[in-house]
Amino acid sequence: MAGITNFMQGRSKRILVPGGAGYIGSHTCVELINRGYTPVIVDNFVNSSIASVDRIRQITGANDVPVIEADIRDTAEMVRVLREHECEAVIHFAGLKAVGESTAQPLDYYSNNVQGSLSLLEAMKQAGTGHIVFSSSATVYGTPVSLPYTESHPLAPTNPYGMTKYAVELMLNDLVASRAGINAGILRYFNPIGAHPSGLIGEDPNGVPNNLMPFVAQVAVGRRPHLNVFGNDYDTPDGTGVRDYIHVVDLAEAHIAALEKLLASPDSFTVNLGSGIGHSVLDVVKAFEQASGRDIPLEFVDRRPGDLPAYWADPTHAMELLGWQTRLTLEDMCRDQWAWQSGNPNGYPDVKIGAA
Ligand code: NAD
Ligand code: WQD
Repeated sequence: MAGITNFMQGRSKRILVPGGAGYIGSHTCVELINRGYTPVIVDNFVNSSIASVDRIRQITGANDVPVIEADIRDTAEMVRVLREHECEAVIHFAGLKAVGESTAQPLDYYSNNVQGSLSLLEAMKQAGTGHIVFSSSATVYGTPVSLPYTESHPLAPTNPYGMTKYAVELMLNDLVASRAGINAGILRYFNPIGAHPSGLIGEDPNGVPNNLMPFVAQVAVGRRPHLNVFGNDYDTPDGTGVRDYIHVVDLAEAHIAALEKLLASPDSFTVNLGSGIGHSVLDVVKAFEQASGRDIPLEFVDRRPGDLPAYWADPTHAMELLGWQTRLTLEDMCRDQWAWQSGNPNGYPDVKIGAA
């Protein structure tokens, strides 16, 4: 519908997408294009490949996807891009996201995630851009006081990465309260996994994956011998950790709902993006074995320091406010992850910047 409206107006709305070449950003760019928007990608490619932009064009048939290689900490460049492309809103994915690395290199995380977001907001003020959707994380909640997590659960992140997300949430809330002409949608993602059903875009971690799903997929494709399961003595149905996994395409669709809410009403909001369903590590392994037809050898090892036993979302607020809920299952997530992993066993091909 938005596509038809925009077509009839003769020009599609441009949305700045910092971090748009990354995992969640690339899937959201596809959905933006499908709905008639033009994403303007800004990325410094610290954790992504320009090849993903080529794949976005391939999936959607859109040849006019602008991509600018830049760091969001370059405020003047952000102002220039926002003005030149007349962006109406920002969907902000750019940042670093590895919890362990954030403990070893906290200043890199505060610089990229907090200073970077500050720079982007300053640029939005200067350019007069009035809407921002921000990628936050369930990690802002910390140790559960009650489950499922609702948006009013106390915020007490337990690592520097989580602190940076919390800090940006505080910054956004203060900015909104100052009536600076910016409204914000803060999205707290649970555990995004899966890939576009085409198998053309997906998560392509550098080195050894930190997260469960890319690790499982690399075992299935033969890149790693077995999965280490971090703990089987938790107080959960099978003893392994429980999480709320969400298909990345469902997540991408939630960004469109959030964007359209911000464009339509002056209010700001914070919502959980999850399914409300918890799955254990062994549930994921079993579902992936079925989807791929491959065995996933595993070994039970000690718990990973800092891991929580179990958590999942209360997704009611997102449903009521945005009319959005997940529609894809764990089986869908595993099938699409396998399409990506088996079609691209070593991730994206090496492509020189400027060649895509
Ligand atoms: P990703 O690493 O694939 O994407 C992030 C993108 O931002 C990358 O393309 C990277 O090159 C770019 N980037 C990083 N710093 C930048 C900078 N200073 N300037 C310009 N570009 C920069 O990660 P993702 O999984 O797609 O996550 C996107 C966002 O969602 C991140 O902010 C992350 O913290 C958040 N998030 C992710 C998860 C998850 O499990 N994947 C969960 C909750 C929240
Ligand atoms: C899931 C489960 C592990 C790997 C992290 C961040 C969080 C968010 C999402 C950004 C746990 C177990 C994992 C492995 C395993 N990111 N596991 N073997 O830890 O819930 O969340 O990513 O915001 O902030 O903390 O996700 O995929 O790492 O782990 O047994 O090799 O799988 O112990 O129970 P996590 P995960």
